[in-house]
Amino acid sequence: MSSKYGSIMSKEVPGPKSAELGKLRERLIAKGVGIVAPVFIDRAEGSLLTDVDGNVFIDMGSGIGVTNVGHRPPEVEAAIKAQAEKFIHPCFQVTPYESYLRVAEKIAKLAPGTGLTKSVLFNAGAEAVENSVKISRHFNKKAAAFSFNHGFHGRTMMALALTAKDMPYKAGYGPLPETYKVEFAYCYRCPFKMDYPSCGIACADKIDETWTSPQFEGKVSSLIGEPIAGEGGFIVPPKEFYPKVAKICKKHNVVYIDDEIQTGAGRTGKMWCVEHWPGAEPDILVSGKGIGGGFPLSATTGRPEIMDAPQVGGLGGTFGGNPIACAASLSQMEIIEKNMDNVKNINTLMVKRLKEMQEKHSIIGEIRGIGAMMALELVSDPTTKEPAAKEAGAVKNAALKRGLLILTCGTYNNVVRMHPSIIMPQDVLEESMDILEGSFKEVTSA
Ligand SMILES: Cc1ncc(COP(=O)(O)O)c(C=O)c1O
Repeated sequence: MSSKYGSIMSKEVPGPKSAELGKLRERLIAKGVGIVAPVFIDRAEGSLLTDVDGNVFIDMGSGIGVTNVGHRPPEVEAAIKAQAEKFIHPCFQVTPYESYLRVAEKIAKLAPGTGLTKSVLFNAGAEAVENSVKISRHFNKKAAAFSFNHGFHGRTMMALALTAKDMPYKAGYGPLPETYKVEFAYCYRCPFKMDYPSCGIACADKIDETWTSPQFEGKVSSLIGEPIAGEGGFIVPPKEFYPKVAKICKKHNVVYIDDEIQTGAGRTGKMWCVEHWPGAEPDILVSGKGIGGGFPLSATTGRPEIMDAPQVGGLGGTFGGNPIACAASLSQMEIIEKNMDNVKNINTLMVKRLKEMQEKHSIIGEIRGIGAMMALELVSDPTTKEPAAKEAGAVKNAALKRGLLILTCGTYNNVVRMHPSIIMPQDVLEESMDILEGSFKEVTSA
């Protein structure tokens, strides 16, 4: 099957070379490492991925929300090469270098709210999450770490404990560090069976009630939340939710940690998604994925009085803020800043096309997202909202066979998600929507 951008050259997907490498993967790689699309990549440029069989896929996964300005932007490539010719790893904690400072300076300048001016750089997002909890505890000398139902924060032990979903993330790995959950504003499936806006954001009031209870009064150290619950199904809370949550955190002297690992770096049309909701001012920002230009780079950034609480030597790591990652980051962040306005064009086109699809396919229960972070929650019946997980997987597979890479997510595994490059050309985006529509037709008529 061949169209202008996505084009399938092999008889089957995966093609023969990918299938062969797939066998090697089974022999060598632990089963726990799941694969979204069993095609092995040979080259990537802009919004296109080419596999070892010559198949070309329009990339709506962006390496799980990392390549926010596409694959291998020439400026990022040049910055990486220039840095590699100077030095690769002196380790910032042994002999520091300037680019680490410049990344911290950039994040401080762009950080949401006010006063988030000091950072530590790490590699994976999960590391930044772990450290945000460590630093909060050191700062306020309290222990209880809270997160939201439907949240995802990574796979290391504390990040995993803060994550909500059991299968496949948490099952079998316990005991995990002690953490606590509160409800997220998942209005499509309200945990309190209420309706927005008449609910008055009762879910946020419940947090206040919980922290005022004898079990938790004076004991809560931090609350971590994604502005949009990404892995949980691109759940967008009402605009009043986070401003209210931030206020409750302040009232209880709880550090509000804003996990922007997936939603940040321009993805939603603002540098950080939480900026869509004035008044939702975090105390700590955790960033990763899109800030690194494709390299492993994450950051924990907060107010000086919080960030400077831990003793000298208590924070860091061998590779955190690697010089090549910093060079890639500085270059990528500049491209993001210049192109963030384009997100509304991406969003306008996607919303229009997704709404047209929803009119034709009742399986599309809800269209959700902000900017270039859009998803469809699939249900087998719009009235009962029975999650259609099998169909979400089938749509993803049908799209792949037609030359489009999309991902699935959701607490109930029934959400199709897309995070294209924020500079994906309009004709590539149009074609991706054509392919998605064809995939829905195929799955719903089967
Ligand atoms: C919101 C959020 N937090 C944390 C993480 C963990 O990041 P990493 O996989 O880089 O450890 C992710 C990864 O998907 C994420 O989406």
